[in-house]
Amino acid sequence: MTSVELNPPIAPLQPYTLADWRRGYESLKQEFDYWIDDVEGEIPPALTGTLFRNGPGLLDINGQRIHHPFDGDGMICAIAFQDGRAHFRNRYVQTAGYQAEQQAGKILYRGVFGTDKPGGWWANVLDLKLKNIANTNVIYWGGKLLALWEAAEPHRLDPATLATLGIDYLDGLLQPGDAFGAHPWVDPASALDAGEPCLLNFAIKPGLSSKITVYEFAADGQLCRQNATTVPGFCFIHDFAITPQYSIFFQNPVTFNPLPFVAGVRSAGECIQFQPSKPTRIVVIPRGDKNRAAQSFETHAGFVFHHANAFEEGDDLVIDSICYESLPTVEPDADFRETDFDALAPGQLWRFRVNLPTGEVQRQMLNGRCSEFPALHPAKVGRSHRYLYLAAAHAPSGNAPHQAILKVDVETSDRHLWSAAPWGYVGEPVFVPRDPDLTNGGAEDEGWVLTLVFDARSGRSAVVILDAQTLQLVARLNLQHHVPYGLHGSFTPEVFSS
Ligand code: CO
Repeated sequence: MTSVELNPPIAPLQPYTLADWRRGYESLKQEFDYWIDDVEGEIPPALTGTLFRNGPGLLDINGQRIHHPFDGDGMICAIAFQDGRAHFRNRYVQTAGYQAEQQAGKILYRGVFGTDKPGGWWANVLDLKLKNIANTNVIYWGGKLLALWEAAEPHRLDPATLATLGIDYLDGLLQPGDAFGAHPWVDPASALDAGEPCLLNFAIKPGLSSKITVYEFAADGQLCRQNATTVPGFCFIHDFAITPQYSIFFQNPVTFNPLPFVAGVRSAGECIQFQPSKPTRIVVIPRGDKNRAAQSFETHAGFVFHHANAFEEGDDLVIDSICYESLPTVEPDADFRETDFDALAPGQLWRFRVNLPTGEVQRQMLNGRCSEFPALHPAKVGRSHRYLYLAAAHAPSGNAPHQAILKVDVETSDRHLWSAAPWGYVGEPVFVPRDPDLTNGGAEDEGWVLTLVFDARSGRSAVVILDAQTLQLVARLNLQHHVPYGLHGSFTPEVFSS
C-alpha cells in the first residue's frame, strides 16, 4: 500500500483480477458486534463518532444469486470511534421483503435491476411490486437513524443497536409507497434559517413529465421548506447538488419503456435507455421563494450519478460531478460478476459552469482518472471548495474497479493517491473534519478519510483511516470477516457503541 504524489504519475502495475474483485460480492449472512482488536497503527484519540455504512449485504437468497448487486438487501455497518478504540456492528434492515424472503428461503420479488423470481418470465407477469431494500445510504438527522432507498420510504433504525424500528413516514410527510431520495445534503449554515444547518432531500415521481419535490429539514428533524417542480420528460435522477439559494438536478437524457417491465421480461432498470445524442438538462430550483420559477439549461454531460459539490460565484453556478460518456446499461442476461471493465466508460470528475443570466454552460474535465463517490469537508457543502476525495482506480487511465483513494486540489490540480492495490478494493471515502465548522483555524483538508477496504488475499475487510492532508495511512482496523462492497454512508460525531 502506498501513498504517492502524482506529479509525475506512477507507472501502473497490473492492479487487479476479476476473480479477486468479485470475492467482495459474496453475502455476509452473519451479524457481528465486537471491539476491533486487530489494529495496525494507532486510532487517533481525537477521532470521535460513528461511521454508518449501507450497502447490499445479501447477494443471494439461500443460494439463489440475485442478478445485480443494487438489488441486494440493505445491511448497515456502524463503526464507533472513541478514546483510540473502535467498535464494529452490522445488522440487516428488517424490511418486509427481507423478512418474507428469509422466511420463504427463496426470491419472492423482482428487483429494479433484474433479479427474476424463479419460475421463468410468467412468474413476473404483471408483478409490479418492488421490494423496498433500504440499501443505498444511511443518515443520522434529527435524532433518527434512517436507511434510505430512493424508490420508497426510509426505514428507521436504533442508532445504538441497529435494530429496525420500521418504515418512517417523517411525521406524516410521506404516504405509503412514496419515494424519498438516498442522497441528502446538509447545508452547514442555511441562510434561510439564520445560519442553522438544514438537511435537503428530494423525491422524484417519474412519468411522461416528472415531478421533483425538494424537502428541507431543520436540525430537530422538522420540515422547514418544501418545493415541487414538474419538468418535461422522464427522470432518472439519483443525486442532486445544493447551494445557499438553489437545488440543482441533472436530468440525463434517458427514456423509459415500461412495456417489457410490465410484461415481466425486463427489470425496471433494464428498461431505461440512455440517449447519448440528446442534451442533459440542468434544472435549477430556487430554495427559498416559491414564486421564483425553476430554470432549465442544456449541456452535454453524458450520464451523472453523483455530484461532488456546487456553489455560487457571481452570476455563475459551478457544479462538480462524476460523468460517464454513457449509462452503464444493465443487460438482461449479463452477469455482473463477469463485468468487462475495459469495455465500459470510466466515471470522471468534471466541472460545469452555468451562467444564470445568459444560460451559457461551460464544462471542463478536472480529473480524468476513473473515479466515483466524491466527498468533501462538510462545511464546504454548497460553498466554493478546494479539496475533493474520491474512490478511484489504481491506474491513471482506463476503467477499473476502485482500489485507491484520490485527493484532488481543484485550485492547483495537485493530486494525492493512496492505493490498496493489488489486493485491496475500496469503498466510498468519508471525510471527517478536524475543525467541523472551520471556525477554529483548521485547514479544509485537516482531518481523516475513512473507507472500508476489501482485501481479496485475506478475504476480510478493514476500516482504513488516512490522513486527509497527505493520504498517508494512519491506521488499518482489520475486521474478523469481509463486508460486501457498500454504497453510501455518513459520519456523526455522536458515539454509538453500546
Ligand atoms: Co449514490
